[in-house]
This record gives sequence, C-alpha cells and structure tokens, in this order.
Amino acid sequence: MKFFIDTANLAEIQEAQDMGILDGVTTNPSLMAKEGITGEANVLKHYQAICDIVDGDVSAEVISTDFEGMVKEGLALAALDPKIVVKVPMIKEGVKAIRFFSDQGIKTNCTLVFSAGQALIAAKAGATYVSPFIGRLDDISTDGMDLIESIRVIYDNYGFETEILAASVRHPMHILQCAEIGADVMTGPLSAINALLKHPLTDIGLEKFLADHKKANS
Ligand code: E4P
Repeated sequence: MKFFIDTANLAEIQEAQDMGILDGVTTNPSLMAKEGITGEANVLKHYQAICDIVDGDVSAEVISTDFEGMVKEGLALAALDPKIVVKVPMIKEGVKAIRFFSDQGIKTNCTLVFSAGQALIAAKAGATYVSPFIGRLDDISTDGMDLIESIRVIYDNYGFETEILAASVRHPMHILQCAEIGADVMTGPLSAINALLKHPLTDIGLEKFLADHKKANS
C-alpha cells in the first residue's frame, strides 16, 4: 500500500519523506489555507516546493466548479511539475474534466467521493485515483470502511485501473483496515503514520537493552 501524507505543511512532508516511507502528498484548499498560502502565484510556488521534497505524486486541487475553469486551472497545475496530480471534485463538470485530463495523459484524483456509485463514475472517466473520504463518513455514523470494501469489489470485478486512495484517514486503525481490504493508497496526517510505528513494548524493550549494555560496559 502506498502512503501519502495529507497536508500542505512542508516540515511535516519533509519529516515523512526523511523516514523513507512516503509515496506522495495530497492537499486540499482547506489545508493550503491552514498554511496561510493565498494568491495564485503563492499557491503554485508552494506546490513546487512540495514537489521538490517528495519523489511521488502530489495532488493539487482545482477551485473552479465549471469545466472550462477546471481545465484552465488543471493545465496550469500540471505544467508545474510531472509529479502533479490534478485533484477534481466529484461533480458532473468534474467528471467531464477528469475525462479531458485523462485523454491528455494528465493524472487526476477524483475527490469528495462518498458512495460506490461515485467511485464507479470516476473510474469510467479514467481517474488515476479515487478518494473515498473514510473519516467524514465515520463522522456521520456511516462505516467508511464499508465503502472502501465495496469499491475494491467493483474495481476488481471489471479490472478498473483507477487506484483507491483512502482519504480522510484519521488514525492508525483506519490505515490498517484499509491495508487489510486492499486499498491501493492511504492519505493521512503525520500523526496517524507516526502512531503506526509506536508500541510500548518496543520502548520498554529498547530501554532495557540500552540499560543492560551500559551496565555491562561501565
Ligand atoms: C483528501 O485528499 C482530503 O485532503 C482529506 O483526506 C480530507 O480529510 P479530512 O476529512 O480529515 O479533512
């Protein structure tokens, strides 16, 4: 499973990259705003800075909601760096834009997906990635993991190449459940990634090893 980090924070991206386990980055307008990145030139500059850190795909979301606007924005984003994946919302105009980008060989991430039907449409439009939002479904008492399972079955039934990018991941159990189901990618915060590697017995064991070594060598 590929690990993407869901942030526009350069320090967090660098930290995950330095661990050697990072396959890409996803951002969204809220995450860009959180970092105080405003204005088209600054936004493009920030995406370039992210691309300079990571080796893999970097999802950059369009703001327009009409086909022409999405195409204009997406082409400008894609021209920035070959790592850029144009992130497009799951609306009718977005589906048209995904088909357009796909025909041009430009990678896309269909975002704000909350149903298997939406995921099926995204795959038929040729999306590179589909982003079902697990956490936001959990927030409304609907099991986000059921959606991942359902999309996995549908894509496997027909051999769709669109990758399932489990998004809105909030904690390590989300990551593990996605891995069990067979999501191709997960995108989550650095906290969820770091939480995966922690175990109290590891910390206790290491402390004892080091103490015994110190005793034997003093
Ligand atoms: C997906 O690409 C989104 O950026 C993200 O995963 C949304 O997560 P949230 O529901 O925690 O905001």
